[in-house]
Amino acid sequence: MTTVLITGANRGIGLEFVRHYAGEGAKVHACCRTPEEARDLKAVSGDVTVHALDTTNQGQLDAVANSIEEPVDIVIANAGVYGRSRSEQSFEALSADELNYTLNVNVTGSLKTLQAFLPHVRKGEGKKMVAITSKMGSIEDASGGAVAYRASKTALNMVMSAGAFELKGEGIAVGTLHPGWVRTDMGGPNGNISPEESAKGLAKVIDGLQPADKAAFLDYAGKEIPW
Ligand SMILES: NC(=O)c1ccc[n+]([C@@H]2O[C@H](COP(=O)([O-])OP(=O)(O)OC[C@H]3O[C@@H](n4cnc5c(N)ncnc54)[C@H](OP(=O)(O)O)[C@@H]3O)[C@@H](O)[C@H]2O)c1
Repeated sequence: MTTVLITGANRGIGLEFVRHYAGEGAKVHACCRTPEEARDLKAVSGDVTVHALDTTNQGQLDAVANSIEEPVDIVIANAGVYGRSRSEQSFEALSADELNYTLNVNVTGSLKTLQAFLPHVRKGEGKKMVAITSKMGSIEDASGGAVAYRASKTALNMVMSAGAFELKGEGIAVGTLHPGWVRTDMGGPNGNISPEESAKGLAKVIDGLQPADKAAFLDYAGKEIPW
């Protein structure tokens, strides 16, 4: 049986990952900040264990990692933020607080998540480590605005790519994946695709990941994105 761990699992793309993998018969460790409020997550049927996890809290990361003894095949660092303020993310207006907050969740939180569960992935058969990034982190694709969010995803991409290089000798595949423009709280109602379509596509892409010198930077349809 495949075992999958997902962060930010209470809503949006993370919740759809849980539904998808649980529906396929996988054992799912679904992590979210406030399990007591995660009604939709708790309503998912299948082999789902819910854990309390703020990915910026090292104590919680250690506690969840210590509570899981079994191997984990796939870790998905999905939790992320756009930033506290959408209006103050221009090059001119961006504050240190806003930048640091966004970097802390999207870069540090994702890295610390993947580090915490690396021992579990080493013991697993699937050997996949994934971060949910964004096309907005592509420098080639860059335009203005959302400076903190863009910079955080660019940095995350480099973290993942360095990780791919470091881990390929152990047969671990690393992906930094763009989910598309998805209709979630973050993506808003005008997104191109549903969370379900995104999670289903991403799961297929994850399935095909191979160990390599660089992380795979792909979207939910498997299309390569320029760095
Ligand atoms: N939607 C899009 O169009 C789009 C496009 C490109 C990339 N992405 C990326 O896809 C991922 C999921 O986005 P989404 O659209 O599903 O967003 P969302 O609906 O806003 O959900 C974000 C999730 O991240 C969790 N989260 C935020 N900070 C956290 C922390 N410190 N610790 C643990 N969990 C935390 C949230 O938990 P709470 O409920 O507790 O806040 C929530 O579960 C993100 O990494 C995002 O950057 C999304």
